[in-house]
Amino acid sequence: MRNLDPVNYVSPAIHSEDVQRIFSATWQLIGPASRLATRGDYIAVEIAGQKIFVMHTRDGLRAFRNVCRHRGARLLPEGTGRCNTIRCPYHQWVWGEDGSLLNVPFWGDDAEFELSDWALDQIEWRVWRGLLFVAIAPETAFDDQLGDIIAELEGEPIEDYTWVHEERLVFDANWKIYTDNFVEGYHIPGIHPAFHRAIEFEAFETTALDGMVRMTAPPRDGLFYRGKWMWMWPNWTLSLFNGGMNTSRINPVDHQRTELIYNFYFADTSDAAAEARAQTIEGNLQVIREDFEVCLETQKNYASGGYRAGPLSPRHEQGVAYFQERLRASRA
Ligand code: FES
Ligand SMILES: [Fe+2]
Repeated sequence: MRNLDPVNYVSPAIHSEDVQRIFSATWQLIGPASRLATRGDYIAVEIAGQKIFVMHTRDGLRAFRNVCRHRGARLLPEGTGRCNTIRCPYHQWVWGEDGSLLNVPFWGDDAEFELSDWALDQIEWRVWRGLLFVAIAPETAFDDQLGDIIAELEGEPIEDYTWVHEERLVFDANWKIYTDNFVEGYHIPGIHPAFHRAIEFEAFETTALDGMVRMTAPPRDGLFYRGKWMWMWPNWTLSLFNGGMNTSRINPVDHQRTELIYNFYFADTSDAAAEARAQTIEGNLQVIREDFEVCLETQKNYASGGYRAGPLSPRHEQGVAYFQERLRASRA
């Protein structure tokens, strides 16, 4: 197998295709559904630049585009909050929690105007094992996209863990460079020396399955990781800890900037375990940050024209090959 041609990581035109053919067309992990436990709770996020929000309403969850039907302003700021109606900050149109337009102040005489013509655009959502997903224009059934992760996590009590913390990390590289890096352990000796010492690297295994890549390695004593890391098409991850897990969404800001939205979940949320949880989170973030420099410098080499596609390791880069195969298929 050959690595993907570098143009795929640096072209704004190819990035626009990624947004339409991948990010709009797939189910996107938003985070723990438990953050929307009470009526009025909402979470507003971007999916490759497309603004959406999900709200806990009288009728359960509803997901909408975070775009005003008047002149397109953002309705709710990114993040979490609580409200009963949705008021556009620009000209103060007001929608109810079901997305119906309720009030248009200072409009003037207009016999043509019907409130019912200007409801918010709804999008689809799913909650699977405590995790909230949305899809703007899904082209795949939810279970088909998830693929083998459904069976892979059957014995793991993931919905019993309590969400504790969200962390957003931003760096200057294309989302595919970061993903190529995430789905291989080949770089662990070079980039993560402490992590390397904490696992039996000789026994590191990478397996491409349906819709996911599974990486495992036996942890040595004292490592917070359980020794199992998973990436799911097109852009979410789940890694197991001792007594918890993290999830992440790899979200493009633009063709050369990416944000990671990490969430951390634990079984033991007692005060006595607070220090251990903080250490796990910090240890995990350290490993994540260690990847940024190599991603940034690789991005520069791809952009410079100084790189031609090289070979992929059959032992360690099966996950890279699988991800890139899915990318090629998404363009076909
Ligand atoms: S853009 Fe929202 S009310 Fe005008
Ligand atoms: Fe890494």
